[in-house]
Amino acid sequence: MYQGNIYLVGFMGCGKSTVAKTLMQALGMKDLDLDQAIETKMGQRIPEIFEQHGESYFRDLETECLLETKRLTQTVIATGGGIVEREVNRVFLKGQRVIYLEWPIDVLYERIIQDNNRPLARDYQTIYKRYEGRKSLYEEVASYKITCDGMTPYTVTEAISKYFK
Ligand code: S3P
Repeated sequence: MYQGNIYLVGFMGCGKSTVAKTLMQALGMKDLDLDQAIETKMGQRIPEIFEQHGESYFRDLETECLLETKRLTQTVIATGGGIVEREVNRVFLKGQRVIYLEWPIDVLYERIIQDNNRPLARDYQTIYKRYEGRKSLYEEVASYKITCDGMTPYTVTEAISKYFK
């Protein structure tokens, strides 16, 4: 059985948290949602952190929580969509097993535009700009990319499980 951790990366709405849950069951691992870890640490929801302290402060917390995952074992870690923005995070991720869940922007846009819990999902232009800026960064840190369009969380999980078996 695979002993290390698995990091899931990809843009907002790509299904990282859902797949982390199904994958941990399929592989008999634990799971951790990095956004939830940040919320627990701060005792605040993500939109409140953005509103009160700003994005840069949120990114500091995100890096702190990411680096703390070093002490975990056999855990599937769902990261936030912006995890690749900081170079220190990318350097860390390049030393890990990282799966990139890739979807077309139009599908992601429909999923996230209504979501009040995502402070950066305000309008198409903002979302598109971030997506374009991050695409190559997800590729850069990924050990394996899954082109998810047309797939379900179940078939994505199957594809990842095969990769680790
Ligand atoms: C963000 C994505 C969110 C969350 C925060 C910032 C981003 O996570 O970390 O709102 O910069 O893309 P999800 O990818 O789980 O939505």
